[in-house]
Amino acid sequence: MEEKSIHYNQLDPAIESRVNDLLAKMTLSEKVGQLVQENPFEAVDWMAVMKQKALAEEQGLPFRFHQELRPDFEAILLAGRVGVINSAEVGIINQLQRKAVEGSHLHIPLLVGHDVIHGFRTVFPIPLAEACTWDPELIEQAAHAAAEEASACGINWVFSPMVDIARDPRWGRIAEGSGEDPFLGMAMAKAQVRGYQRDDLKSGRRMAACPKHYVGYGAVEAGRDYNTVDLSERTLRDVYLPPFKAAFEAGAGSTMSAFNEIGGVPGTCNPFTLRTILRQEWTWPGVVISDFNAIGELVQHGVAVDLKDASRLSILAGVDIDMESGGYARYLAELVEEKAVPIEVVDEAVRRVLRLKFGLGLFEHPYNEEGLAETIHLNAEFRSLALQAAHESMVLLKNNANLLPLKPGKNRIALIGPLADNRTDLLGTWAISGQAADVDTVLQGIRNYLPDSMLTSVQGCALTGTDPVDFSAAVAAAREADVVILVLGEGVAMSGEAHSRTHLGLPARQQELLDAVAAAGKPIVCVLMSGRPLVVPHLVEQVDALLAAWHGGIRAGQAVADILFGTVNPSGKLTASWPRAEGQIPVYYAHKSTGRPAESKGTTQFDVPFRSTHLDEPNAPAFGFGCGLSYTRFEYTDLVVETPSLPLEGTLAVSAAIKNTGERAGTEVVQLYIRDLVASVTRPVKELKGFTRVALQPGEEQRVRFELPVKELGFSGLDMSYIVEPGRFKVWIGPDSSQGLEGEFVVRP
Ligand code: GLC
Repeated sequence: MEEKSIHYNQLDPAIESRVNDLLAKMTLSEKVGQLVQENPFEAVDWMAVMKQKALAEEQGLPFRFHQELRPDFEAILLAGRVGVINSAEVGIINQLQRKAVEGSHLHIPLLVGHDVIHGFRTVFPIPLAEACTWDPELIEQAAHAAAEEASACGINWVFSPMVDIARDPRWGRIAEGSGEDPFLGMAMAKAQVRGYQRDDLKSGRRMAACPKHYVGYGAVEAGRDYNTVDLSERTLRDVYLPPFKAAFEAGAGSTMSAFNEIGGVPGTCNPFTLRTILRQEWTWPGVVISDFNAIGELVQHGVAVDLKDASRLSILAGVDIDMESGGYARYLAELVEEKAVPIEVVDEAVRRVLRLKFGLGLFEHPYNEEGLAETIHLNAEFRSLALQAAHESMVLLKNNANLLPLKPGKNRIALIGPLADNRTDLLGTWAISGQAADVDTVLQGIRNYLPDSMLTSVQGCALTGTDPVDFSAAVAAAREADVVILVLGEGVAMSGEAHSRTHLGLPARQQELLDAVAAAGKPIVCVLMSGRPLVVPHLVEQVDALLAAWHGGIRAGQAVADILFGTVNPSGKLTASWPRAEGQIPVYYAHKSTGRPAESKGTTQFDVPFRSTHLDEPNAPAFGFGCGLSYTRFEYTDLVVETPSLPLEGTLAVSAAIKNTGERAGTEVVQLYIRDLVASVTRPVKELKGFTRVALQPGEEQRVRFELPVKELGFSGLDMSYIVEPGRFKVWIGPDSSQGLEGEFVVRP
């Protein structure tokens, strides 16, 4: 049965009339209340909380954290002066929901938003890892599992998916999105929205998604979080906006405005992005919530005199809900009374919020069944799904002499590294409701394959700190072993929001640990866990096999072991390029040709390459978009362009044969790329326009066929309108962005 996903952006006349009826009864204060997200809890000493959490995790104990309600919050609820809260505590949510519904004048229920980014209690791999599965169906299921678990706690709005295209791994939030490519980003955005908004949640209620951060946040200069974004309108339209449009087309009923400015105008008061594009061009009727205090930050941006001025700018630009700046609560009524903000603007914002609340069914089902969460959280189906996602997200980057897979019981193993027997860091960033106690460690996973007599585990060094370290135990273990498995990388606190880095190598003393262990001369399998692409050129040379395992969620440890010992054949493919050096950044496959491309000939004089290259590194990344190895081999033959010449309203049909020429079954992510050779504006040298996962038995061959409507070959033309131009195109079908069978076709005028 095809699960049904709710589309919150299609106007339903029955809902519209209920919205208008309710709006007509609201006072100005009650209207403003619907546009306010307010924190219901007492201030918290987060450092103390984090210390308690770390202590519990060290002891492998579940961590429970309870927040105290503000004493004044009940009065605010009864007066109808708040419309949204952010919580995950079912008892608190029901308590506050009852006050809002039963105690207030108009009985309007609360939206309960929360950051559910890659799972809720069943924590999946970070989204950058999930994208490496190239498996939208799986990602939809994972989002649905997260919605089930979150809805069981009373949450009805997830501040997710994060759909920011990111081409700069210095940016800590690259962890939260799908990587560098808009086409893949669109597929992942649609899948997550469909999964979150499925109409079959066991809570009997619904969930709304909130693709974020609208827009361009991934393009912060220097990869420094919250920094300036200065994009051309064409890049905005052709790279950063498409995943949002895809999310809205999949039915997302809300979005979150970004902290960053876009070419001088902050995303949280930007009439071009918030009105011209969102409301006029896309005619999207959903709700815009600001990011946390982003309205207040307009003062720091230097575009608002004070919070009142900032509130005026945001509501006029089209931000419906103020996330916890206090500006709307304090000044919006005043601004209306002073005629600085027309009441019609406020009414339109309130209409959108009420439309979402009716669409969620909150007026019929405002409360949550207590005890439901315990029956849903961490169930066997979700744990199995998390394991599958971890398997499919991991990317095999190197496997010299087919060292992998290891044969259980054949090799004595030294398991070394700060992430080998680790739980907390494998959860990854934004795993708010995850528990370290739920995590499979790599050591546990490997113990399922080896007797203790064949396994020695040594931490070797910490994930942080640069104090001198005694590596002797690690080196001794390596000397005694046949194979070394090194589990290295980043701690959870090295990526995510406000965690950008300028040096992308191994933190702390891990490189020295690797150097010391490598001197023992044994084969090394390196498992790299991180929230981003890393710059580890020396490591890549030193190790014999390299698996990018990311922060893989609660089943990461088992998944690593299953891959290293061959139960699972890796199929993951990178969705963000891994630079050779920070100096290459931004480095991404869909780059422009330039007038002097690196491969151009005849421009060297006096042995100086007058081409667009660096003197000290080639242009190509260490590992490019779409790449990932398998334990078997896939051969691509016989590309057939079935439509060598086609009209503007035609559909390209192209196919190729893919054969598993190895000795074991495997899944290949077959990719389709095109290039528009001549156009009215410069076009990327390659663009992903299709992909599919193909499972093949040894010796099995399949013909993979792609159909691509010509209208999807367009771009923003000279006048910024979307245009498809006739002309010659190249087309490739291959295993990654750097190679493939090449063909040509012509689009006729
Ligand atoms: C944060 C993040 C945003 C999140 C919001 C609510 O600052 O930027 O992604 O949804 O605040 O927690």
